[in-house]
Amino acid sequence: MTDRTLMIIKPDAVSHNHVGEILKRVEENGFKIVELQMMKLTRAQAAEFYAIHKGKPFYGGLMDFMTSGPTIPLVLEKANAVALLREVVGATNPTVAEEGSIRKAFGTSVQRNAVHASDSPENAAIEVAFFFGNAAQN
Ligand code: RTP
Ligand code: MG
Repeated sequence: MTDRTLMIIKPDAVSHNHVGEILKRVEENGFKIVELQMMKLTRAQAAEFYAIHKGKPFYGGLMDFMTSGPTIPLVLEKANAVALLREVVGATNPTVAEEGSIRKAFGTSVQRNAVHASDSPENAAIEVAFFFGNAAQN
């Protein structure tokens, strides 16, 4: 099976109508969209998804932000998908993100940075299952 990764179009990008542009960049970079849904995360879902950051100073703000409106989780397929999507997405802070990256184009702060991308193949598998179940890995 070709490698898969999980992306989330975050509430800032959805509310600013950047969904189409972001999906276009994803497809133009050779990723195949194999799963996609729109959903408003509950606080419990956001807390579980970002559990690794619990206790950090930005955690409360991150929970508020991620539950502030609809998000779009999607599963992307491509060889070396995890590392390549992190490149296309760019650095966490949009002000230092690479020119041409999604966060440079659409992020407005270190918190409101438009998209999430899985950071390892192990976490990608966990995150894909979190939103789409294990059937999505077949
Ligand atoms: P993500 O998990 O969303 O793909 O982002 P990332 O790996 O680039 O960064 P990570 O360290 O995992 O942080 C997760 C999300 O928390 C928010 N954040 N805010 N205020 C801050 O200093 C701060 N640092 C991180 C961002 O929304 C970041 O994407
Ligand atoms: Mg992360």
